[in-house]
Amino acid sequence: MSFMERLVIIVIGSLLCLTGTSIGLKHNYGDALSKSILFFEGQRSGKLPPSQRMTWRKDSALQDGSLVDLAGGYYDAGDNIKFNFPMAFSTTMLAWSVIEFGRFMGPDLNHTLNAIRWGTEYFLKATSVPGFVFVQVGDPYADHNCWERPEDMDEPRISFAVSKDYPGSEVSAEIAAALAASSIVYRKYHLGNSASLLQRAREVFDFADKYRGSYSISLGPRVCPFYCDFGGYQDELVWGAAWLFWATKLPYYRDYINQNIQNVRNICEFGWDSKDAGINVLLSRIHLNKSSSYMPFMADADKFVCSVLPESPSLSVSYSKGKLITHIQKKLIDTKTKILHQCFFVCSFVNVWCGLLFKPGGSNMQHATATSFLFLVHASHLRKTKRLINCGGNIFVSRKRLRELAKSQVDYILGSNPFNMSYMVGYGPKFPLKIHHRASSLPSIVNHPSQIHCKEGSTYFESQNPNSNLLIGAVVGGPFINDSYEDARPDFVHSEPTTYINAPLVGVLAYFSGHRHHHHK
Ligand SMILES: *[C@@H]1O[C@H](CO)[C@@H](O)[C@H](O)[C@H]1NC(C)=O
Ligand SMILES: *[C@@H]1O[C@H](CO)[C@@H](O)[C@H](O)[C@H]1NC(C)=O
Ligand SMILES: *[C@@H]1O[C@H](CO)[C@@H](O)[C@H](O)[C@H]1NC(C)=O
Ligand SMILES: *[C@@H]1O[C@H](CO)[C@@H](O)[C@H](O)[C@H]1NC(C)=O
Repeated sequence: MSFMERLVIIVIGSLLCLTGTSIGLKHNYGDALSKSILFFEGQRSGKLPPSQRMTWRKDSALQDGSLVDLAGGYYDAGDNIKFNFPMAFSTTMLAWSVIEFGRFMGPDLNHTLNAIRWGTEYFLKATSVPGFVFVQVGDPYADHNCWERPEDMDEPRISFAVSKDYPGSEVSAEIAAALAASSIVYRKYHLGNSASLLQRAREVFDFADKYRGSYSISLGPRVCPFYCDFGGYQDELVWGAAWLFWATKLPYYRDYINQNIQNVRNICEFGWDSKDAGINVLLSRIHLNKSSSYMPFMADADKFVCSVLPESPSLSVSYSKGKLITHIQKKLIDTKTKILHQCFFVCSFVNVWCGLLFKPGGSNMQHATATSFLFLVHASHLRKTKRLINCGGNIFVSRKRLRELAKSQVDYILGSNPFNMSYMVGYGPKFPLKIHHRASSLPSIVNHPSQIHCKEGSTYFESQNPNSNLLIGAVVGGPFINDSYEDARPDFVHSEPTTYINAPLVGVLAYFSGHRHHHHK
């Protein structure tokens, strides 16, 4: 690019971005935070407490577990199965959200603590028999074949466990991570017996480490293709050890991490399957190798950041065009990727986002929320260490830029997008009405007490009407990469909410609700 081209782009870009700012919505992050955590009440399984606020939901699956009582926990998404692998990750992320940003949660702190406890109480049951870890309740094939309310579903509720002979290191180590992270929260907020939670975390971690194997293989088609462990179990072992190190400070876990960190290789991935980027951000955060100058996890955390920032030469995710989609803008974008970078650079300059982050696979919104969370945590780390990240070339990234990227994603989710659509149910004037969610779509048993059988639910599934019940706070899989959304119930890839979309978002919204009125520190 010539200097003049560059200048023209910067000037035009600035104007466009400024226009974007002036019409940008001001979001009520506190309101969104309250809703994001209320969503977890809608996902509850088991006996609901008197304090239940989402009152159209009622008790369900009270008989779960045969040898061991397994009532409780969360349904992962729009079905009625309890998948412990993603449930544990969601619990870990709720706990991490409270550890980092609990002080900004106000009255929603208590609700978030209750949501964590709802997870941990279930995991204590699922790990109560030494040598076994229960990993799933319900038959996904039967369940997915029906459109039934959790309150009166009648498919088989088989429970599945891993053991010495049928190992499942990823799911066990993730449960250990959830228990260890929650024990930090329990200790800080006097929530219950933190020590016994931590003790259980240690035992479950030992089990995961000693009997190594993937539950995708040992339990096969019972758990996979639903939540297969594609990324391997090495990352969960290091992740579990990292949380245990934070919770115990024992050198054993530091040594374990140092000996196994080289197995953490998918450094740009973070979600219920791959923990890798989260491990590097977490180890940077807890400053694992205090006395050593050798800290590759910090460099790897920086590489993750550079793989996400649009202006970085090592960008490896996609973005939708977002608001930059008038004629001139489109032309600008279509000309060259280089120019695209330039445009993003300009936008970042005047504090405006340029679209939603996209990665391959379903339920895309999980990437936007999980990445935003890691960016906020890493931003604090940059502040403490007074560093900038060098993404190559002359692209230096400050903590402010990380927070801007996170804010751009949250604002997009809450309605600052070309479709003017909030992707959180119940937030803003326009949000998804036909989400892929059995309990939300079918009438509540409060209004319709008689049972709706498996196939009788199809009428509601196929209906063009909005869902019967608002699952307030649910964030769906999200738009197409062209920024449009169809609000179609059968299209679960886009219209289904999940616990692991919301769990990191709780922390992100807490941060922004605590930083509304002043500039980011
Ligand atoms: C926190 O939530 C629990 C459970 O709903 C409730 O019993 C308790 O009163 C709440 N505490 C505060 C301070 O709101
Ligand atoms: C911590 O430092 C030691 C050397 O002092 C090194 O062998 C180890 O890999 C480092 N650990 C991590 C996680 O980077
Ligand atoms: C979104 O809102 C803007 C500004 O109010 C309006 O110009 C635009 O037509 C809306 N777009 C859609 C798809 O509703
Ligand atoms: C966006 O993409 C989807 C899926 O490819 C397509 O069905 C839809 O028509 C597109 N919408 C617009 C406005 O281009």
